[in-house]
Amino acid sequence: MQYFSALEKLLDASSAPYSGFNVASIVVSKSGDIFKGVNVESVAYSTTMCAERTAIFSAIAQGVKTGEIIEVHILARNAQKNLIAAFPCGSCRQVIAEQSLNEAKIFVYSAEAEVSEHSIADLLPHAFFSLD
Ligand code: THU
Repeated sequence: MQYFSALEKLLDASSAPYSGFNVASIVVSKSGDIFKGVNVESVAYSTTMCAERTAIFSAIAQGVKTGEIIEVHILARNAQKNLIAAFPCGSCRQVIAEQSLNEAKIFVYSAEAEVSEHSIADLLPHAFFSLD
């Protein structure tokens, strides 16, 4: 609920000319700071970056440390301009698991009063954490 309006506004910053699928993400750090991200697509398709990782990488670039990401909020809008629930892709789940030390809560929005909450441990069981 809390971040719905900000996410909806943020969708307009998404750059998705190929899929028409806009994604906005807001991550919250332990200290309560927020960091925004959108998906940015590339004509060389595989170089596209998802909204969730854009937000997390921005947080890290601004000084948030590994383990300090505590919430990830997500809203998406499809090519037909309908808001829909979008769960993070596998690559984003891996990064969320690592940067929250497996503690993040994920909030998937589809409308102002429609949000579901999930733990990263549920969304990515048996995450890969270490080379040791
Ligand atoms: N996308 C995200 O931003 N986050 C996800 O978790 C899934 C997919 C983006 C990537 C691409 O720009 C578009 O959605 C369609 O896959």
